[in-house]
Amino acid sequence: MPRLAIIGGSGLARFKELEITECRVVSTPFGEPSAPLAYGLLGGREVVFLPRHGAEHSVPPHQINYRANIRALKDIGVDHIVAMGAVGGIREDMAPGCIAIPDQIVDYTWGRAHTYFEQDRSPVTHVDFTEPYCGELRERLLAAARAAELEPIPDGTYGATQGPRLETAMEINRMERDGCDMVGMTGMPEAALARELELSYACCAVVANWAAGRGDGPIAWEEIVANLEQGMDKAKRLLLELAAGL
Ligand code: HPA
Repeated sequence: MPRLAIIGGSGLARFKELEITECRVVSTPFGEPSAPLAYGLLGGREVVFLPRHGAEHSVPPHQINYRANIRALKDIGVDHIVAMGAVGGIREDMAPGCIAIPDQIVDYTWGRAHTYFEQDRSPVTHVDFTEPYCGELRERLLAAARAAELEPIPDGTYGATQGPRLETAMEINRMERDGCDMVGMTGMPEAALARELELSYACCAVVANWAAGRGDGPIAWEEIVANLEQGMDKAKRLLLELAAGL
């Protein structure tokens, strides 16, 4: 039974380095995850892969069933989750193509089913989220990135926005004042749900573009796609190193 799961984001709905051995449709009390769970071998190690936006990249960030995704992984015995995510770079060093391993989150999302603790789940539980990512898994990601000669950015605050539209330049200025270094749309409530289910969770962020107002003019989708392709190649090298070190 694989204990490591990789949640794929934009640019990583398919993963040819992963030799898929079996796909399983699973359901949870919260509904079905974004796609069947793909069991497979990555660098000879068992892992399970779940594309967050669906196998055809058709589920937008605000409509992802985050609860079903995390619960499905918990139910099959996963204990570590590496979440891949495309982000826009806010901080000066977060240039397109970089890999960053964030260590903090600011949540600007709204209206998403964001907790397992409601109604009949008692007593009410307030999980600690002081450090939203697992420190040990972050260290492993950083070591894997360095082994793959990627020069990862070793920290940063991930600002999670609602989407699906991109931000205004002034929203990005406000996020910067709040301490955000990068902006993405899927980091929450995923990280908090993993914490509620006591799963070790860390994020590998791939910078796809300069955030709104930080580059030259409007953000072009073609630019995001091209940078993601390059960034995700790096991320796959990181994942292979990570699997090799398991
Ligand atoms: N904003 C929000 N999410 C994103 C961005 C962005 O600029 N780029 C990739 N995901």
